[in-house]
Amino acid sequence: MQDDRLIVALDVPHAAAGLELSARLGDAVSFYKIGLGMLTGGGLALANELKQEHGKRIFLDMKLFDIGATVEAAVRGLCQFDLDFLTVHGDPHVVRAAKEGASKSDTQILAVTILTSLDRADLDDSLIQAGDIADLVCTRAARAFAAGADGVIASPNEAAMIRALPEAAGKLIVTPGVRPAGTDKGDQKRIATPGAAVNAGADHIVVGRPVWQADDPRAAAQAIVAELAAL
Ligand code: C5P
Repeated sequence: MQDDRLIVALDVPHAAAGLELSARLGDAVSFYKIGLGMLTGGGLALANELKQEHGKRIFLDMKLFDIGATVEAAVRGLCQFDLDFLTVHGDPHVVRAAKEGASKSDTQILAVTILTSLDRADLDDSLIQAGDIADLVCTRAARAFAAGADGVIASPNEAAMIRALPEAAGKLIVTPGVRPAGTDKGDQKRIATPGAAVNAGADHIVVGRPVWQADDPRAAAQAIVAELAAL
């Protein structure tokens, strides 16, 4: 049984480890996230191989941010890898440039609103305007959607608020910070179970360590798929 609502984060050091893990997961997982940590370890080659040779969907988590012309060029180049999802920061000029760069591809651009690792003190340090983080997240999500973003990355706690925005109609919400009941939180602070994240409005959930650190990664992925199927 496969369910592309589950995206497994391949946060392993290099492409060979990613291929080995994906082989263990087999048909239990159809969608993978490859992030910056794998960039120097052959991440793009891995993305290409998983897509072209194994028919997997690919989410490349680059969180791009730069002047518009550079973002557009970077996205245009990355889209040659036939990606399904690509992340940029949710600033409207970045989102518009990314959409332009992706215009001749099927790649969907997902916007990061405010990194979930940041608290109010971090935002103050960065001179981000005062106010409740949840309100800022919703405002940034609405602006990213208005700029053309196909979706946003959000914590499960923010998913319902974003789903309720008029601008979110037809847009994707992708949530990391997901932990099946009884698994270790790790460094994630605001977590939800797979079922709770989807019930809050997530279209896809990103799960890393609860799958790849499990004694039996395939069984861990299958348990998440079964939880989603039972909703
Ligand atoms: O191992 P774990 O399930 O916590 O992995 C979650 C993945 O989602 C990691 O690749 C992490 O970098 C990513 N992520 C996150 N929170 C965000 C954005 C991305 O945990 N706000």
